[in-house]
Amino acid sequence: MKWRDQALNSNDEKEILLLYLQRMYWVETEMEQPLEWEAKIELQGEFRDALEILSSDSDRHAMILEKWMKVLDIELPKEAPRGISKKIFDFKGESYYEIFSEIMKYEIFARDAYETIANTDENLLKEIFPEEDTRKQFLQSMNYLVTEEERHRTICAEKVGGYSTIISSPR
Ligand SMILES: [Fe+2]
Repeated sequence: MKWRDQALNSNDEKEILLLYLQRMYWVETEMEQPLEWEAKIELQGEFRDALEILSSDSDRHAMILEKWMKVLDIELPKEAPRGISKKIFDFKGESYYEIFSEIMKYEIFARDAYETIANTDENLLKEIFPEEDTRKQFLQSMNYLVTEEERHRTICAEKVGGYSTIISSPR
């Protein structure tokens, strides 16, 4: 969101950022969370600690987003925001490798999305948050979420990496 289109005014740009926040709230609550709970069910207690970290952090992330959506006076989405398809996650019969590979895609996606938000054009941010302190706090929150999602990606990568060394070893 660094680049600003001449055809769009700052209100349009603001709307795009707000929609982004609504989408990420949806991703945390309606995608990451069900994904991790489905993994917990299918893995039957295996990798319990890792999955607990991923799902409880996702709850915290949703709360952070909720806080900012309140500040910005935008509604929590009641249905999938524009551009997001409704998904049902089913890991029946899948190996932990496949499950963690799938979760990892969402962690990478979330990391990059928060990074995009953290890179919002500075002038636009000044319009949205005229107070410097609030603006700084918002950016801190978004950068914190980037770090968090990167940590989650690493957790998934460890599981996936471990499995791939086993399957690639000669029989
Ligand atoms: Fe998250």
